[in-house]
Amino acid sequence: MASFSFMRINIPLLVIVLNLMFTTPAVLSCPASDRDALLAFRAALNESYLGIFNSWKGTECCHNWYGVSCDPETGRVADINLRGESEDPIFQKAHRTGYMTGFISPSVCKLERLSSLTIADWKAISGEIPRCITSLPFLRILDLIGNRISGDLPADIGRLHRLTVLNVADNMLSGQIPRSLTNLSSLMHLDLRNNRISGPLPPDFGRLPMLSRALLSRNYLSGPIPPSISSIYRLADLDLSLNSLTGTIPASLGKMAVLATLNLDANKLSGYVPASLFTSSIGNLNLSRNALQGYLPDVFGPRSYFTVLDLSYNIFKGPIPKTLSAASYIGHLDLSHNHLCGRIPSGSPFDHLEASSFAFNDCLCGKPLTKTC
Ligand SMILES: *[C@@H]1O[C@H](CO)[C@@H](O)[C@H](O)[C@H]1NC(C)=O
Ligand SMILES: *[C@@H]1O[C@H](CO)[C@@H](O)[C@H](O)[C@H]1NC(C)=O
Ligand SMILES: *[C@@H]1O[C@H](CO)[C@@H](O)[C@H](O)[C@H]1NC(C)=O
Repeated sequence: MASFSFMRINIPLLVIVLNLMFTTPAVLSCPASDRDALLAFRAALNESYLGIFNSWKGTECCHNWYGVSCDPETGRVADINLRGESEDPIFQKAHRTGYMTGFISPSVCKLERLSSLTIADWKAISGEIPRCITSLPFLRILDLIGNRISGDLPADIGRLHRLTVLNVADNMLSGQIPRSLTNLSSLMHLDLRNNRISGPLPPDFGRLPMLSRALLSRNYLSGPIPPSISSIYRLADLDLSLNSLTGTIPASLGKMAVLATLNLDANKLSGYVPASLFTSSIGNLNLSRNALQGYLPDVFGPRSYFTVLDLSYNIFKGPIPKTLSAASYIGHLDLSHNHLCGRIPSGSPFDHLEASSFAFNDCLCGKPLTKTC
């Protein structure tokens, strides 16, 4: 029968046609525009020790191009993930970490579905963050840690309303924190450590509702700590150390629900230390090297649990609070270089501490110091 033979001959063909129709998108063919953008991005970089870009050839950029991956739904480039320090075999084979020169080409902005851009720890990539980066509406992760990137953060960075991670630590960025930064309503992790960023913290910093880590240490930030920070409900880790912040410590920082680490060391903070900091959820507190003064609040108790409590290099006076010996745990205590006076309390939190925790005060006495009372 004619129709029977038609079926018999054409079923395999039909299968092939169906396969082409339904499986080709999953094979991820790289759009030519994305491939051209990647090649232009690569042309501005020079990596000659590992050869990570050797795999960037042919037309299928979604397939086996080192560090590139595509969205299976759209078939567009979604992630660039290039880390100069990695366990990847390419590094083990070369017995070294990565080193790359060049700059981040604005062509990267033509990858309009880009969701994450990680170009981390290459040590020598310089130039600016391309201004056009703020036009990538799907960008969630921008991680450029450990390069030599200079210039300032794009003024309109706040346009990246999906951004959850902004990590530009260990670079040479300067300028101020853009006002628009507080428009990053999805931001969870902000790391600007070890740059040359100056000027004040935005007064409305507290508008970042999702923020859980804010690491801004080792910059040239000045002005006060905005009290609005304490309205960030999820903030667990706040590091503002090694800047030039002035004014007093907002007492509201001691009322935050999940704040566990507060590093304000090596700034120019003054005034009294709020008692709330010592009765809070903070377990890792460094206030060393400021100009904090007055008596230490006698508010400790069984709920006080500190892995680190460093109050050294301030101008605290008076006795060590007696209640401190009732704390459930104090791992590392440093009260040195103040003007404290009187008997060092005894008790389990003090048993393991060494003389250096109490050295260079006016008239402390008792164990572990050799001076008797
Ligand atoms: C890339 O780096 C190598 C080694 O440092 C150097 O010899 C070469 O000239 C550089 N090429 C470009 C295009 O900058
Ligand atoms: C923040 O976003 C709002 C709403 O989109 C906009 O009106 C405002 O200009 C933005 N602020 C900055 C400093 O960019
Ligand atoms: C506290 O900060 C000071 C000054 O930055 C630093 O030297 C010290 O090591 C820090 N303390 C701890 C326990 O990390």
